[in-house]
Amino acid sequence: MLYGRIIGWGKAVPDKILTNFDLEKMVDTSDDWIVTRSGIRERRIAPEGVNTSTLSVEASKAALEKAGLIAADLDLIIVASSSPDHLLPAVSSEIQYQLGANCGAFTLVAGCTGFAYALVTAQQFIATGAYRTILVIGAEVISRNVDWTDRNTCVLFGDGAGAVIVQACEEPTGVLSFELGSDGEGAPHLMMQLGVANPPTHEAIDKKYQFIHMNGREVFKFATRTLARSAAETIGRSGLSIHDIDLMIPHQANARIIELAARQMGLPMEKVFVNIDKYGNTSAASIPIALTEAIEEGRVKEGDKLVLVGFGAGLTWASAVVQFGLSEKSVGTGWLAAPTRTVKAAQNKISVAARTAGMRASLALVPLYTRVSRKQRQEEKNGQQPK
Ligand code: ACO
Repeated sequence: MLYGRIIGWGKAVPDKILTNFDLEKMVDTSDDWIVTRSGIRERRIAPEGVNTSTLSVEASKAALEKAGLIAADLDLIIVASSSPDHLLPAVSSEIQYQLGANCGAFTLVAGCTGFAYALVTAQQFIATGAYRTILVIGAEVISRNVDWTDRNTCVLFGDGAGAVIVQACEEPTGVLSFELGSDGEGAPHLMMQLGVANPPTHEAIDKKYQFIHMNGREVFKFATRTLARSAAETIGRSGLSIHDIDLMIPHQANARIIELAARQMGLPMEKVFVNIDKYGNTSAASIPIALTEAIEEGRVKEGDKLVLVGFGAGLTWASAVVQFGLSEKSVGTGWLAAPTRTVKAAQNKISVAARTAGMRASLALVPLYTRVSRKQRQEEKNGQQPK
């Protein structure tokens, strides 16, 4: 059995900062509304000529340098993106060429969940012994898919890229357990309609099918139902408990969603990485950017157990328990030592069941939570002091 050890990491964000105050001049919104509802203060916007491949190459070069490798060492490139440079060819091939790599490359689309899907996919190639060194990228120039007159969406998104290098290792590390999920019934809640079903006719463009349309409330409800449940389930599958988790790195879509998930899981916010205030929702790039920053800020140390969890268009979700580097002792986790795993699995079944019951109870509060904030908004509208 081989494991995919994360040996390099890097990020790239455009220089141009768009603040909430800039947005106040563009649409009917306010810094206060955006910060209160989402936690976002500013985001980065790629200028003309800077595309998803540009940011990907910059992040990948940083990751290669950190790993002490060159592009020729790569055996495979997996890119997660919903905003490729072109519809054809896949942006992964453009990145492979620009990097000067000589290996296979493909793009995977799972909305904001894409990076978690890609990391888990890379682990499978390594576990089978097919490839040794894989570059995994999450990258978006999603600002080009945003209608800058639609205040419901334009305040939320930003551009960026993050990349990691995973390399085969015989010691237990990397992805220890995972869950991948999809519920296509929720597709209409988060959609860019342009495509084979809606070719780019004048009529389609007039209807703004080229832009992201989102039912924010439905996505919010989906996220609060899914994030904590999936993360807890995946922690259980790894043979670890919530107390073993050193840091959760969730998809950065909304600070309220993240805080609610942490509360449902019983995870203190000190163990949750949040950088949404600086970048907004960078979709598939958000987890690898956050992971890179967490490592650079010293929040992730050798042997730490992380839980990465994402959700997005599809609707999709994914979570993975990831060990960063090597443990001091090779504990029996994940798909490791079978006897230890059996005992741990039994212990965890009990703790997951207890936690799920607790979570169900707290999920029952979500409608109440939404009602309270609506009531609060109404009071604010009427000029009353919220209680
Ligand atoms: N500024 C001011 N007011 C606004 C803005 C804005 N930018 N946007 C919406 N509003 C108004 C709405 O029109 C609404 O007004 P109304 O009550 O008169 O109809 C009011 O604010 C409240 O709107 P809600 O949708 O109830 O606001 P909510 O508290 O739910 O927050 C938000 C909205 C931030 C979008 C939230 O629902 C959310 O984060 N949803 C999840 C979105 C998400 O995670 N998307 C990413 C998926 S990832 C991917 O794959 C791309």
